[in-house]
Amino acid sequence: MAITDELAALREQTLSAIEEAVDTAALDAVRVAVIGKSGTLTGYLRNMGQVAKEQRAEVGKAVNEARKVVEEALEARKATLAAAELAASIDAAAVDITLPGRTQQLGTRHLINRVSEEICDVFLGLGYTVAEGPEVETDYYNFTALNAPADHPSRSMQDTFYVVDRSGDEAAVRGESDVLLRTQTSGVQVHCMEDQELPIYIVAPGKVFRRDVADPSHLPQFTQIEGLVVDKGITFGDLKGTLDYFCKAVFGPERKTRFRAHYFPFTEPSAEVDVSCGVCHGEGCRMCKGTGWLEILGCGMVDPNVLEMSGIDPEVYSGFAFGVGVERVACLKYNVPDLRYLLQGDMRFLRQF
Ligand code: DAH
Repeated sequence: MAITDELAALREQTLSAIEEAVDTAALDAVRVAVIGKSGTLTGYLRNMGQVAKEQRAEVGKAVNEARKVVEEALEARKATLAAAELAASIDAAAVDITLPGRTQQLGTRHLINRVSEEICDVFLGLGYTVAEGPEVETDYYNFTALNAPADHPSRSMQDTFYVVDRSGDEAAVRGESDVLLRTQTSGVQVHCMEDQELPIYIVAPGKVFRRDVADPSHLPQFTQIEGLVVDKGITFGDLKGTLDYFCKAVFGPERKTRFRAHYFPFTEPSAEVDVSCGVCHGEGCRMCKGTGWLEILGCGMVDPNVLEMSGIDPEVYSGFAFGVGVERVACLKYNVPDLRYLLQGDMRFLRQF
């Protein structure tokens, strides 16, 4: 067979091998076999010296042409195969976005904390600041400095947990400890009057402890928010206006308040504040035990003795104070019938808020 016929056959054979190559690796094998260093077509170029002189031009041209056609075909096929391989690898790595995701359980703030912050926010809006005091307190701050010296009958209003020192202190072992778990946040008033510059406008949220058995309306540990204002010219009118505003801010503008005379050792005069029942709007129902009113806080004008014991001149300054139970406000606001639900940690209950 003439060399040119051989070349034509090689060329056709190579083109169909290129078309049949299933992937880029197979294609490269064809390239190496034909136009690689020791490829078949390269062999013709290398052996040109053995071709008869008069045929050389023709053969040379045919070889070059064949090479050009093969190179172009290789390029074209390579592009097609590379695109297909890329598409296949993208398909293989695809994420199935129809799988349902794993839902994250979002936590919520506990109702006690939420209501506590809500109450404090009302007073922050009036320019008050938040104060704090210790939960383990001395008898002086919890009782004496609040006008309830030893043996004062008001002490029995709040049954107290004493912190007993077992190290051998005789009085403490007998239970006559000076250290106790505070029964009320009112002691923070004394710390503030001792430590802060006048005038004072504070609210003090915190835990308090009493030797009570838990029942629907009592808890041995609960949360109070104390309020204290000491300034020049503070009157009972300021107290009423402030606490009426507070009740409406927390329970709703349509609610009414009333002030009932009461007794607390550290305020004179003292009062309890009731807010009109949100269930029956004052008609009388089970929620308000038929009275139309719900008791929500204690308050009064700071007793001059209390101011004096903390080094404030009652001739120059006057003030009012109040104490509100956070759990009670939370239960009244959300119609929870039993304070104990707040502390049982039942997620079905807590998630409602
Ligand atoms: N400390 C009182 C209690 O726990 C509540 C209270 C009443 C606080 C009147 C006050 C107040 O500041 O003025 O029962």
